[in-house]
Amino acid sequence: MTAKTYFSNGNEVRLFEQAYRQRLPVMLTGPTGCGKTRLVEHMGALLGRPVVTISCHDDLTSADLVGRFMVTGGDVVWTDGPLTRAVKEGAICYLDEVVEARHDSLAVLHSLTDHRRTLYLDRAGEVVVAPDTFMLVCSYNPAYRSSLKDLKPSFRQRFVTLPMSYLPPDREAEVIAAETGIAIHVAHRLVNCAVAIRTADAAFHFEPPSTRVLVTAGHLIAAGASELDAAEACILAPLSSDGAITDGLREIAVATLAGADTSS
Ligand SMILES: Nc1ncnc2c1ncn2[C@@H]1O[C@H](COP(=O)(O)OP(=O)(O)OP(=O)(O)O)[C@@H](O)[C@H]1O
Ligand SMILES: [Mg+2]
Repeated sequence: MTAKTYFSNGNEVRLFEQAYRQRLPVMLTGPTGCGKTRLVEHMGALLGRPVVTISCHDDLTSADLVGRFMVTGGDVVWTDGPLTRAVKEGAICYLDEVVEARHDSLAVLHSLTDHRRTLYLDRAGEVVVAPDTFMLVCSYNPAYRSSLKDLKPSFRQRFVTLPMSYLPPDREAEVIAAETGIAIHVAHRLVNCAVAIRTADAAFHFEPPSTRVLVTAGHLIAAGASELDAAEACILAPLSSDGAITDGLREIAVATLAGADTSS
């Protein structure tokens, strides 16, 4: 199924696999919609491991990760959390937006991410040694980082870090055509529009349009929307709620997508 194809952007697939073979944890960084989740899914398929994804947020506790005692039918039984299950089944455990989690919730990962590769379930009185096939992968978007929410150096330095970014324009257009079925020249125009906005982006202070929004625009075009309508709804509108900025961006869209409705 083409929908799950991953288009590589350098040496990240090789480095990810080398880290896996050496039982090293990986940290993916990069803007929203640049392919972090897609890479993890791809590597799971490539390495033949299931992927257990945990979305981090500031209410996430270490018990949410490792498990807790629960009352079931009058009995109190220990129930493994998703991290513990992933360790036991030797899966790839993917902690998405790890910067959102509190430091004390992440402390449980320390013994898993060094030579010990061991999870200590203090409450359950259990020690789980990770099998060789277990891998911890985390991701975060450095653009969202604030001084209040940052990872400790003692955490960051435990990981092989793979910085990710948008694909080069030709490859990005291939992704959009492959994901949505639109013609490659239409995909190229969408990418040109995004590249123009990304280049102008230093003046604005928003997260630039991602591959994800281009794929979404491609889906609308595949359903019959005009390129400009799709760009307006999927690329411009999500970027900023400031009308003046959107007007400026619309000029970029009109310039890059000009003639779109007659030539496609
Ligand atoms: N390298 C790539 N190969 C194939 N598809 C890609 C690639 N990069 C992005 N995409 C497309 O963009 C979409 C968004 O990518 P993905 O979900 O992996 O982003 P992300 O980096 O995990 O974003 P977020 O930080 O918001 O979770 C994918 O569903 C896919 O359609
Ligand atoms: Mg993701």
